[in-house]
Amino acid sequence: MFSNIKDQELIFRNLINGNWTNSKSGKFIEIYSPIDNSLVGKVPAMTTEEVDYTFECARKAQENWKNTPINKRAEVLYKAADILEDKVKDLTYIMMLEIGKDNKSCESEILRTADFIRFTADASKSLSGESIPGDSFPGFKRNKISVVTREPLGVVLAISPFNYPINLAASKIAPAIVAGNTVVLKPATQGSLCGLYLAKVFEEAGVPAGVLNTVTGKGSEIGDYIVTHRDVDFINFTGSTEIGTRISKITSMVPLLMELGGKDAAIVLEDADLDLTASNIVSGAYSYSGQRCTAVKRVLVVDKVADALVEKIKEKVEKLSIGNPLEIDDVNIVPLINSKAADFVVELIEEAKEKGAKLLVGGNREGNLVYPTLFDYVTTDMRLAWEEPFGPVLPIIRVKDKDEAIAIANESKYGLQSAVFTENINEAFYVADRLEVGTVQVNNKTERGPDHFPFLGVKASGIGTQGIKYSIEAMTRPKATIINLVERK
Ligand code: NAP
Ligand code: G3P
Repeated sequence: MFSNIKDQELIFRNLINGNWTNSKSGKFIEIYSPIDNSLVGKVPAMTTEEVDYTFECARKAQENWKNTPINKRAEVLYKAADILEDKVKDLTYIMMLEIGKDNKSCESEILRTADFIRFTADASKSLSGESIPGDSFPGFKRNKISVVTREPLGVVLAISPFNYPINLAASKIAPAIVAGNTVVLKPATQGSLCGLYLAKVFEEAGVPAGVLNTVTGKGSEIGDYIVTHRDVDFINFTGSTEIGTRISKITSMVPLLMELGGKDAAIVLEDADLDLTASNIVSGAYSYSGQRCTAVKRVLVVDKVADALVEKIKEKVEKLSIGNPLEIDDVNIVPLINSKAADFVVELIEEAKEKGAKLLVGGNREGNLVYPTLFDYVTTDMRLAWEEPFGPVLPIIRVKDKDEAIAIANESKYGLQSAVFTENINEAFYVADRLEVGTVQVNNKTERGPDHFPFLGVKASGIGTQGIKYSIEAMTRPKATIINLVERK
């Protein structure tokens, strides 16, 4: 099934100014697989001096890169997309070992990312400015014209999470560099083998020295240092609300683009197609064991159809495949990323049980593997109604009508996405208009793709808007050059 990467020792280095570099400290971070705790590989633990040097190189490289024609920058992206596609088997294998994701999802993440990179290269070609005549404003004449171009921001710090180590690194790197910025990527430690592999893909594609650089090290050790570094012009972060909030507190005068946690609700109205609804809810809640920002993390169903819906969901949850992604193709439920994550999910399960929620499926755990768990009659005094488990547990909250569903949905501190299931377009818009989220899906599970759509969270779920065109815009700024023509009498 896999090529020769299987027997290789994965000792990866950082890409700094075009060179593959180990830390002078000689220190490595060992990466263990969430599947069986075996050693997968090692990445360097970088020192603060090495971080300084990396940013210095990124700063210097930006001077040339911003003047490189856009079509040349786009060429690098097209090549990177092709190389990434060629490497899909090797990278799928590394990703499975490193983050425990099933092979089909790994593969589709990688192929989706190749498409993302190509689409970004295409989109860069329509980067354009505008010219604005002065005389449209009262008191000004036609001799004043503003020529507005788009300029890169400088050095972008990209910080990615563990759960989509390729997609959520590339979706920062590609728009940033095509717009003329240089990038320092800090991948999640569990996910850094994938992140460094991706950097290798860009390097092979011809990204010039210093344009893409990587920094590895534990966030708890070097995180504060890198986000407050004097050479950072922009931070594009995806991860937990906790770390996102910390970054926004300790940084100053640096623009932020953040994708954070969520508690996406699936709201089910009485006229919903319950088969379609149940299928979407189950795949939305449980794929990759619920370790997706956009996973369905609660169901708000009106009483009238609750029994029928719950039965359909339960049937499907009982059929989910569970186990080791190296042994079972396309498995739904895999071991969680680490034991701390599994402990947290079990804590939420136990509290819901104690407070009287009805456990319909699961509730048990073996090591990092938490079995798919479904609760009915979850109430708003339970932590499971509000907290993001990032695991395979789904609470069903019964409500009397759509207004109660909207009220509970909006009471959450999060505002990433919601889904509404109904056959009535007026009802769909009634609910969608009132939800405090970045995106509402009508008759579909919550999800990010396709990647050219705007993707954003409100409240504690994020700052700013991503999506190919939106990310390029976020990583550029307008520059106005004003022509003042001499008036001829
Ligand atoms: P995390 O623990 O917040 O880590 C995210 C990244 O931040 C990692 O690279 C981590 O490095 C780094 N980091 C840790 N401490 C830092 C600090 N003080 N300063 C700077 N960086 C620091 O999140 P995760 O566990 O990887 O991912 C799960 C979370 O991400 C969930 O809450 C999920 O909802 C959210 N997420 C959101 C989206 C979205 O689009 N809204 C998408 C995916 C995931 P280390 O790994 O070295 O600690
Ligand atoms: O970009 C990947 C992540 O943000 C979620 O993507 O489409 O599986 O919801 P999706």
